[in-house]
Amino acid sequence: MYRSLVFLVAALLSQVTSSVLVPRANLVPHVSTTAIKLAGSGTSGAYPRLAVLPDNSLLGSFTSVSGTTHTLRVTRSTDGGSTFSSVGTIATSTGDLDNAFLLGLSDGTILAAFRNHDVDANRKPTYYRITVCKSTDKGATWTFVSQVVERSATTTNNGVWEPFLRLAADGSTVQVYYASENSGSDQDILMQSSKDKGATWSSPITVAGGSTTGRDGMPGVARFSNGTLICIFETTEGSTGRFNVKSVYSTNDGASWGSRSTVYIPTAADSNAGAPQVVIAQDTLVASIMTDEDSSTHNWSALTGIRFKVLTAAPAIQASWGHKTLVTADQAAWPSVFTLSTGTVYACGGSATCYAVALTAS
Ligand SMILES: *[C@@H]1O[C@H](CO)[C@@H](O)[C@H](O)[C@H]1NC(C)=O
Ligand SMILES: *[C@@H]1O[C@H](CO)[C@@H](O)[C@H](O)[C@H]1NC(C)=O
Repeated sequence: MYRSLVFLVAALLSQVTSSVLVPRANLVPHVSTTAIKLAGSGTSGAYPRLAVLPDNSLLGSFTSVSGTTHTLRVTRSTDGGSTFSSVGTIATSTGDLDNAFLLGLSDGTILAAFRNHDVDANRKPTYYRITVCKSTDKGATWTFVSQVVERSATTTNNGVWEPFLRLAADGSTVQVYYASENSGSDQDILMQSSKDKGATWSSPITVAGGSTTGRDGMPGVARFSNGTLICIFETTEGSTGRFNVKSVYSTNDGASWGSRSTVYIPTAADSNAGAPQVVIAQDTLVASIMTDEDSSTHNWSALTGIRFKVLTAAPAIQASWGHKTLVTADQAAWPSVFTLSTGTVYACGGSATCYAVALTAS
């Protein structure tokens, strides 16, 4: 019913504004049954992300953990994402090393931003960093570039987490979005930019959370065809500690950000939805979330009963999100979505191993 309505509205609009009927991709995602392994065999991992290089090869990144040793690993696909094989390691640490996000620049340089915290014997952070490293050999070897932000841990929560990288509209300025804690109950999304491939960074601007109380985190950004940006994030705003998903928008390529819109509120009152990412593919917004709304026991910090779902919407800054679709019923934390220039969308999840599945319109 809703599907045909969307089609009808799109058809009517395009008849009014143009003589060419522009087909809109169907909003209902179909999840491929083929899981593409991002990790090499025998390698478990979490926090999977994809990036594309100028030669159209794809890089996958994820965190593998062995005892207290965390390793940020990189795999590469030269067949459009059908198969991946290991290429290198960004960094290894017994600290709190995680949340790697890759960005391929036009000159072939690849930047990786990640959280890189020192911890004490109880694994409580003592020093926080968002670190940037680079590779000029397609992910095989990595060298240190800069700390975007670093600070000593205080007795109140003051961490920095979950960097997301994007190239600005000028094609050369790099933007990093990340979560910055003000206290245990309040966190903002900040953005800093670099005009020298990550060597130096501007002062932060606030993307979300400056005038609200809640844990705004896990930012992801996508760009509409008219240049407007949408930033999606999780927040506890207005829900006493439970997470839901919201968005903000920018009409000046990230320099300043507008009002908040709801993306998703989990169905069960005591459940959570968070860790979102977003892409725009074939004129459709696609968001990934993790949620414990189907679980009978809710322990978000222990990731109990976490499932990976996607939502879609027609492009709008206050989008009507729907068509919720399960990607996997297995425990799958910190998922992501990524789109190729061809319009293919990959949904990436991590449980026993990290994988990608293609999403198509059914
Ligand atoms: C949730 O999980 C955390 C971490 O595993 C644990 O410390 C906590 O006791 C759990 N909470 C409940 C209500 O079970
Ligand atoms: C840009 O495109 C989005 C998505 O179609 C739309 O919601 C927005 O109103 C457009 N214009 C501006 C100035 O953001």
